[in-house]
Amino acid sequence: MNYLQINGGNKLNGSVRISGAKNAALPLLASTILSKNPLTIKNVPNVKDINTLLKLLSNLGSTFTFSDNKVIINSSTITSTMANYDIVKTMRASILTLGPLLSAFGHCEISLPGGCAIGQRPIDLHLKALELMGAEIEIKQGYVVAKAKKGLKGANIVFDKITVTGSENIIMAAALAKGETKIVNVAKEPEVIQLCQVLQDAGVQISGVGSNELVINGTDREKLDMKDFSVIPDRIEAGTYLCAGAITNSKITVLDIIPEHLEAVFNKLEDMGFSLKIHENSVILEPAQKIEARSIVTSEYPGFPTDMQAQFMALMTQANGVSIVEERLFENRFMHVSELQRMGASIMLRGSSATVQGKIQLYGADVMATDLRASSALILAGLIAKGTTKIHRIYHLDRGYENLEKKFKDLGVDIIRLDE
Ligand code: EPZ
Repeated sequence: MNYLQINGGNKLNGSVRISGAKNAALPLLASTILSKNPLTIKNVPNVKDINTLLKLLSNLGSTFTFSDNKVIINSSTITSTMANYDIVKTMRASILTLGPLLSAFGHCEISLPGGCAIGQRPIDLHLKALELMGAEIEIKQGYVVAKAKKGLKGANIVFDKITVTGSENIIMAAALAKGETKIVNVAKEPEVIQLCQVLQDAGVQISGVGSNELVINGTDREKLDMKDFSVIPDRIEAGTYLCAGAITNSKITVLDIIPEHLEAVFNKLEDMGFSLKIHENSVILEPAQKIEARSIVTSEYPGFPTDMQAQFMALMTQANGVSIVEERLFENRFMHVSELQRMGASIMLRGSSATVQGKIQLYGADVMATDLRASSALILAGLIAKGTTKIHRIYHLDRGYENLEKKFKDLGVDIIRLDE
């Protein structure tokens, strides 16, 4: 297994280009199951989770090529609807094949996704909604066995909680269902919106896109004529690099972004004393005179993103004063805290909130990545820690950050990937 070694203390400079959004590309690749024709998808990040989903789709019978961030995929050749454990266990987002497979084929067996470091990650809301659409759902030996012999039918669905992949699963299921599906309390993340737009371009009637209520008129198992498209930029990757500039109090430029997807992150950075020059698809971060302690409460989009919570916690160790971090979406998304404490951070946990004392000098240490975003927080801490930081189990990072070392190296970071 390899690890990342970072020698802290460098100022950053220059610019970084943001890749396509993993969390947009995953549902969009799954949606090709609904298509009767091959299509080309551009700006797909070459990261582990994407390659895992492509492997799963090819096991079902899809054919694809993937090079230079471009996927040419034909899922009309799918013959199997069984997503087995050995792939699903490595990536829980495989559950995104449930809605499209059930809607297109009337049956599927998907291994239950495990939980993960940040929480139990149930899928009860996905399953309840599909049952309302006429599916018979059974859990058998760790598999979701779903049937809808006569196809799914439109239904009125009210999500008890906002769920991103739950919304995406039901949107894809509704696209081929018979009749009208209304989804209330639907997620409004940009990744969900792009899925709706791609399905609209393929001829699915969807109204309310961007609101918390969608109405979808299904095609009654008539497969879609999906059009080529390009994946939106990764707002969480962009936020992570902005935090790298912020924690080192450097001037950096982040290119290939959609600024309105980052409003909550921009507002928080400006509130902490950084100034941002925002252009059409880039932003320049300027150093703060003094980094002010601020608090964050994670919430669904357009609120402060839970996927940026760990990165901001690392940044807050360098702010002057006490910051409070409230994690409202996941029950265990503080795995980075103990690792940051090993580097000298002063953080106190009480239930779903963490109190971060700043400004504290951090020191390089051997630390362990536990989940995708916690790992990126450890890199940020390593940028300003005195001495050398070694981050182990970086396969978590490789799931969602494309060309990570090269992007950091090009910004002036002393970083190298080594073998244990
Ligand atoms: C998506 O996960 C993202 N993953 C996560 O990003 C992100 O953190 C999360 O949304 C929240 O924004 C992908 O898009 C692939 P949820 P998802 O369903 O859909 C509860 C990353 O770092 N819930 O919106 O699994 C759940 O337990 C990953 O890229 C139920 O109770 O999250 C959580 O508390 C990490 N029952 C809350 O809802 C359900 O059936 C939000 O979860 C579904 C969810």
